[in-house]
Amino acid sequence: MPLGYTLAMIKPSACRKNHVGPILAMINQADFRISAIRSTKLTKEEAERFYEMHRGKEFYDDLCEFMSSGSIIALLLEKENAIEDFRKLIGNTNPEMAEEGTVRKRFAESLQKNAIHGADSPENAKREADFFFNQRERY
Ligand code: CMP
Repeated sequence: MPLGYTLAMIKPSACRKNHVGPILAMINQADFRISAIRSTKLTKEEAERFYEMHRGKEFYDDLCEFMSSGSIIALLLEKENAIEDFRKLIGNTNPEMAEEGTVRKRFAESLQKNAIHGADSPENAKREADFFFNQRERY
């Protein structure tokens, strides 16, 4: 039985450009239920911890700098088969390869400023959900 939730983050570039509303509408239209939501700003250290699995890659430092450059929206999203369905909704990590109708095709500016993050495995969804939300914040 695939995990029924995923963790998403609307990135600082999309927040700065007021794309939060249209992105949330796409998420709702795709039948995800918002189980928890928070607007917050990560410190560089928090961004480094969130993206721990990419530590050592050439883009890691820039990515963490960018992800702590402004507010983000963290989202816990419920749906059957949430991880896979959400990754379909947002499209390829590289916006040049993202399909029409996906969030990244509409709102991404570059590989780094690709509008939104979605967890890529059940282990990461759980780790990332615990990073942002305690049990009392999940409804
Ligand atoms: P995200 O889904 O947030 O997960 C990790 C992020 O690293 C990814 O989206 C991209 O924004 C970024 N990323 C992945 N690969 C590269 C790359 N080759 N160069 C720059 N940024 C990258």
